[in-house]
Amino acid sequence: MKKPDSSLAQKTALDIKNVQKEIFELVNSASDIKLLEELKNKYLGRKGKINAISQNLPEIPVDKRKEIGQALNKLKTETETSIDNKFKTLSRASAETSEANKEKIDITLPGNPVNHAHKHPLTQITQEISKIFISLGFQTATGPDIESDYYNFEALNIPAEHPARDMHDTFYIKTDSQPDGPGTTLLRTHTSPVQIRVMEKFQPPVRIIVPGRVYRNEAIDATHSAVFHQIEGLAVDENITFADLKATLATFAKKMFGEKIAVRFRPSYFPFTEPSAEMDVRCIFCGGKGCKICKNLGWLETLGCGMVNPRVFDYVKYDREKYTGFAFGIGVERITMLKFGVDDVRLFYENDLRFLKQF
Ligand code: DAH
Repeated sequence: MKKPDSSLAQKTALDIKNVQKEIFELVNSASDIKLLEELKNKYLGRKGKINAISQNLPEIPVDKRKEIGQALNKLKTETETSIDNKFKTLSRASAETSEANKEKIDITLPGNPVNHAHKHPLTQITQEISKIFISLGFQTATGPDIESDYYNFEALNIPAEHPARDMHDTFYIKTDSQPDGPGTTLLRTHTSPVQIRVMEKFQPPVRIIVPGRVYRNEAIDATHSAVFHQIEGLAVDENITFADLKATLATFAKKMFGEKIAVRFRPSYFPFTEPSAEMDVRCIFCGGKGCKICKNLGWLETLGCGMVNPRVFDYVKYDREKYTGFAFGIGVERITMLKFGVDDVRLFYENDLRFLKQF
């Protein structure tokens, strides 16, 4: 064993001081965790600087050894704490920056598209038509989809065996209370039964429109659907004439298709109106020259209409001597197809977003 060396005590004390200063500066300026790990190894490790200094202890004279040993221990604990503290500070800072990076908003990125829901084209046109008639003083009425033979046919002057029934391919409903089926309960084939229901309840003046779903047992193709939509109209009062019908429906056509649209009325037949007519508008696609859509006629059929048949007034107990009225029936699908240039009615019911998003 070497002899105790008193100058070694002095040198060691100096070493401790220097290392302390060195560590203080290095730890303070350490900017990342990896560097800190390296410092920890360099000073506190088994082969680190502090351990190296403690190798001197046995050779230091006993009277100095205690003092130096304590200084060395202090250096060790202080180094541990300062590295530890710095470690905490650095890891908190790095967590904060990564959080900040996450939240950073890049205002140059294009925004996310906002998908607005909108109304189905049939709903849009139903509402547009309704609005026009409401502006003319009509009110909206509704009735049931499941109807009786009486309202759908009989009270509209379409008795059993009437040939007009052939035009309404009817879905009949068998019920327990009426086991004999046909002739009793059915899905309404038009919105006209609501005329009867309203007149049963209210006395003239009556001015109503009836938007609703109707059903026919038909083969489905580009222009036929088993379920479709109509808007019925009815005006009853004293002194209503065919001129009122013409003026009202021509006004509707202008508001629907534009001020310049020409209309014409052709004689027709419906059991519940007399006389009956159909209103055409000048073809909105070719202006009347003739095209595929108007089948070279230059005119487009838009609705059926007529003066209420007095026999219908008899069913609802209106005085046929006192009152007159007009009625009309609009096919919503047909008007929508004309307005939007759609050539297949089935598109309205398939819920294909590629189709629906266009309106
Ligand atoms: N109900 C008829 C149908 O579906 C349409 C109709 C025509 C209604 C003339 C009317 C009208 O009110 O006057 O074929």
